[in-house]
Amino acid sequence: MSVVLTNIGELVTNDLAQGAGSGGLGVVPDAAVVIEAGRIAWTGPASSAPAADVAVDLQGRCVLPGFVDSHSHTVFAGDRSAEFAARMTGEPYTGGGIATTVAATRAATEEALRARGQALVREMLAQGTTTVEIKSGYGQDVATEARMLRVARELTPETTFLGAHTVPAEYADDRAAYLHLVTGPMLAACAPHARWVDVFCEPAAPTAFDEDESRAVLAAGLRAGLLARVHGNQLSAGPGVRLAVEVGAASVDHCTHLSDADVDALAGSWAGTAPGTFATLLPAVEFSTRSPYPDARRLLAAGVPVALATDCNPGSGYSSSMPFVVALAVREMRMSPAEALWSATAGGAAALRRDDVGHLRVGARADLTVLDAPSHLYLAYRPGVPLVSQVWKDGARV
Ligand code: NIG
Ligand code: FE
Repeated sequence: MSVVLTNIGELVTNDLAQGAGSGGLGVVPDAAVVIEAGRIAWTGPASSAPAADVAVDLQGRCVLPGFVDSHSHTVFAGDRSAEFAARMTGEPYTGGGIATTVAATRAATEEALRARGQALVREMLAQGTTTVEIKSGYGQDVATEARMLRVARELTPETTFLGAHTVPAEYADDRAAYLHLVTGPMLAACAPHARWVDVFCEPAAPTAFDEDESRAVLAAGLRAGLLARVHGNQLSAGPGVRLAVEVGAASVDHCTHLSDADVDALAGSWAGTAPGTFATLLPAVEFSTRSPYPDARRLLAAGVPVALATDCNPGSGYSSSMPFVVALAVREMRMSPAEALWSATAGGAAALRRDDVGHLRVGARADLTVLDAPSHLYLAYRPGVPLVSQVWKDGARV
């Protein structure tokens, strides 16, 4: 059965072959989209749309590719709202609260983790996110890390092994033993459920990992057939960005504190023909930790591709909303609305090395977000307003 979505006021395709001059968004005004077998079969002006079995009149609304949230921690247990409240009265974010979530997650049943994860993914979908990445990292023992990833795999194909999130308390005096566990038995138990390996590379945080430790984690993951991504340069300028580039990571996430050498390394990673390393910015974390925002303009000026994601997690930022992230990127990081939307859709997809999502070229997955608004500008222009009126995933309205 084919469906034509018609009377679209503004269609964002992220297809450079369409809508020249729309800041890379491939905007088609007064457009239609034809969906067949879960994929995009045609896009263009509504006046020349081919016939389809079913027609849906979108009454001038704006249609976007579904958001691609390339960084989240949405499988966990417990609550850290008190930690947030303490931060709002001046406590700094150090990553120390991760231990609270580890204790709660270890104690949770698989069913409880599943219920929470499903609820968060539904919440994301309702806000227009059709692809999400989910990490482990709140288990920090073999059984709980594997349990987190089994649950995450039910929710998304984009699953990430983050056993090296922090060193758990029982290994505080023997970090080498924890490294041995993460790169050995824990990796072996988790790799079958994961596509990616990640590490919290942050020498400034005593429970996170330094450069050599992080390199060992990523190397072991790569040997096990996983692809690399890195938490880096969140709390201080450190080795995370350069290590990510060194190992060919698809993305280094946070990038809040960057040296000139970091920016050069990221830009240089795109010099060859193979894809380089994305800078994924997570401004909802700076919002929730009351920290300075990353310098998106500096990265863009250097030619570094930027993705935007929520980092939805109970500690550093508990927003599941890509529209909120887009609004922050525009207002606080001075990205243009077009840059921010590209980074939240096509950018997120490329940071996950996916070419079937994040755009609406013919053949793409028919993952679409319909805004109750005439244009994508409204995402930042009307922050906090639930503008997402329909979401289509794999060609079906959800
Ligand atoms: O991406 N920085 C490390 N990990 C998460 C935060 C986890 C937490 O505080 O629970 C992040 O910010
Ligand atoms: Fe994170």
